[in-house]
Amino acid sequence: TMHTEAFRPALHYTARDTWLNDPNGLIHHGGVYHLYYQNNPFGNIWGNMSWGHATSDDLADWTEQPLAIACDAQEDVFSGSIVFDSQNSSGFGTDAAPPLVAVYTSAFKEASPLRGTQAQSLAYSLDGGFTWKKYAANPVLSRNSADFRDPKVFRYDGPAGSYWVMAAVEAKDYKVVLYKSEDLKIWEHLSDFGPANATGGIWECPDLFALPVDGNPEELKWVLTVNLNPGGPNGGSAGQYFTGGFDGVTFTSDSTITNGRQESDRLNEYQWLDWGRDYYAAVSFSDAPNGRRIMIGWMNNWDYANQIPTSPWRSPMSLPRELSLATTGGRHTLLQTVVDGAVSGDEAPAVQVGPIHLTSETRQMPAAAGTVQLIEAEFTAGTAEEFGLIVRGSDKEGTRIGINPTKGRLILDRTASGDTGFHAGFPSVDTAPVNTENGRYALKIYVDHCSVEIFAQQGELVLTDLIFPEKASTGFSMYAHGGTATLENLRVTHLA
Ligand code: FRU
Repeated sequence: TMHTEAFRPALHYTARDTWLNDPNGLIHHGGVYHLYYQNNPFGNIWGNMSWGHATSDDLADWTEQPLAIACDAQEDVFSGSIVFDSQNSSGFGTDAAPPLVAVYTSAFKEASPLRGTQAQSLAYSLDGGFTWKKYAANPVLSRNSADFRDPKVFRYDGPAGSYWVMAAVEAKDYKVVLYKSEDLKIWEHLSDFGPANATGGIWECPDLFALPVDGNPEELKWVLTVNLNPGGPNGGSAGQYFTGGFDGVTFTSDSTITNGRQESDRLNEYQWLDWGRDYYAAVSFSDAPNGRRIMIGWMNNWDYANQIPTSPWRSPMSLPRELSLATTGGRHTLLQTVVDGAVSGDEAPAVQVGPIHLTSETRQMPAAAGTVQLIEAEFTAGTAEEFGLIVRGSDKEGTRIGINPTKGRLILDRTASGDTGFHAGFPSVDTAPVNTENGRYALKIYVDHCSVEIFAQQGELVLTDLIFPEKASTGFSMYAHGGTATLENLRVTHLA
């Protein structure tokens, strides 16, 4: 209907008329960004898991492609990754025309003799990722486990040698399991990591990669990301990360928190890819240009994923995020920004003002109204207990984005954001710890038809939530509760 199509994002990828979840097989190859994803080709709720496919030249405009890897009577095709096998180590191609190889999880069905288990399988493409053949000798790696899945494969080249490494999970054991291979077919166990830090839900969709510290290419640090469900900092699905070392065999974390307090108290100290409710199953691209590390997450939460009020499509992907690593407060922190060029908009901002002094008030700014926009706001605290912005507002609804400087919290309140009634777990006030060294709070907020992604303090902290406002709710206001605050500068740009 008109109403539900109104939620379809302008900036974020959605499948035309089907369900999607995890991004899979992200790779840049032949000048094209490939986004495969968990897809139900026959409906808009989870099921018939297969790999859907979309391509883009610039990470901004996506073209949906025919289904890439389909489920069959024996198996669902669960999450995994793709590598360019440039040496044809797998033998699926030729030296002159090496293959792309997908490593995916076979979730075996009743009809299969392997029913009830999950194991890793291969498919290959000889036409640059558009058509795929499953390997006849699948699966290639089984542990006789019901929850062994989500292989992320990359090429390791280091002191220990040169080979393929797979990071996968034993989901219910809260373990990332690492394997190595010469040919992508025969795999040898290297080591396990976990349980560690957040274990409030099963571990899924890991990733392992190196990043320069503070931009210094001579100093590399490894980052292990692992998604978990539930157990996120604001409930349900979320992704955590660890920083440390990888010697080709073992990942050693330097960010594991081991003091004796309750996990619920420690959630604030763990490192999260995103503190919001709607960023899950995040993984990074293989072979992104210039060594960049670009990640996409599924913008939904298993708490209510099948119920969000959209049709005929269901679930958007996040905007693509570029990752870097900075040293802050004695530890290594991921910084995330939306990839340059992945969103575009008006040349001139609709609004560019500041400073604006606020005293116990909510002030509307009609010139900043909109539905798809980039909001850049910098605040300094005064005496107000909370200050911030309300986006997608009307006289009956709005999404509140605030700072409580005393508590040191970033707040996203979607309890009155529009349609919240489709699931009891949806309306929420989500918060995250926000630090300031100079008294400033800098927010970069991407608003789309059904989402808000907040990048705070230069991307040190990210919070992503879905919202389902009325199309006519375009209002924008600023507020300070119980005292003063200053909006030092505000820039609002319409995005297309
Ligand atoms: C994560 C996940 C993966 C699995 C896939 C199935 O959202 O549960 O662990 O491979 O979704 O669709």
